Amino acid sequence: MELITKINKLKAVVRKTRCAGEQIGFVPTMGALHEGHLTLVKRARTVADRVVVSIFVNPLQFGQGEDFDKYPRNLSHDLELLTRCGVDYLFAPAAEEFYPKDFETSVAVSDLSDKLCGKFRPGHFKGVTTVVAKLFALVEPDIAFFGQKDAQQALILKRMARDLRFQARLQVCPTVREEDGLAMSSRNVYLSPEQRRAAPVLYRALGRAAGKILEGERQTARARQAALDLLAAEPSIRLEYLEIVDTATLEPPELLRGHLLIAVAAYLGQTRLIDNLLVCVP
Ligand code: PAJ
Repeated sequence: MELITKINKLKAVVRKTRCAGEQIGFVPTMGALHEGHLTLVKRARTVADRVVVSIFVNPLQFGQGEDFDKYPRNLSHDLELLTRCGVDYLFAPAAEEFYPKDFETSVAVSDLSDKLCGKFRPGHFKGVTTVVAKLFALVEPDIAFFGQKDAQQALILKRMARDLRFQARLQVCPTVREEDGLAMSSRNVYLSPEQRRAAPVLYRALGRAAGKILEGERQTARARQAALDLLAAEPSIRLEYLEIVDTATLEPPELLRGHLLIAVAAYLGQTRLIDNLLVCVP
């Protein structure tokens, strides 16, 4: 695997790859890699000729008082994992390389970016779309891989790619979980042992709402309440939101039908975790 830190070098490699007629698979990440990330990388390895992974802790997507400074960084371990997965190129630029001092451009998907997490993290998705738009412009992927764990992010990026006519197809891969159901996340390392024991209640709460829907509940409020009751019984959870929404609009339907996303965000101490489940009511 070749480590690339400079944009010019990346562009040269991309040019060479495209001239050779090879398809580029791309997995953007912020590092501190875990099996969730590696599943995306392995998927890319099976479908593309060349696999590019990026590691860049993107300052634009962190709000004031969020965890940008203490976000886990472990490049040498990440390098080892990616080499073992057969990645061709790792792009890991410094912040000044990616965003020079006079960088002024942003890319934003309106509306979808203001819902769910967007309500509580103003500017977050604009930071995500800006970094991914620039990464797409540099890497020119044929196919890019994202995780269902960040369902709203994946939806917004699909809309961005469609609106701006990026050539990249976006593939969304299922959420990878720990044995007790907790969605893998780079932020799980922040959890104390006690918080770690409590954390899977998020997944159980989603499962309870999904169970109600699959048993025939069609009232959004009632299915949602079933999940809220479970969360309320866990004192270490500070709920930010739990919503049942249409997967395309992210708006809660009055009656539950079609493709639904049950999404949760909550704090355990200072650590904010998100998770979601998809349910289809025919
Ligand atoms: P990061 O949190 O590092 O995640 C990189 C990719 O891995 C995202 O597509 C995310 O959805 C996916 N991922 C994370 N945990 C996962 C899990 N448990 N199962 C499956 N996929 C998982 O998401 C970002 O970085 C950034 O916002 C980024 C898109 C790189 C832009 O900065």
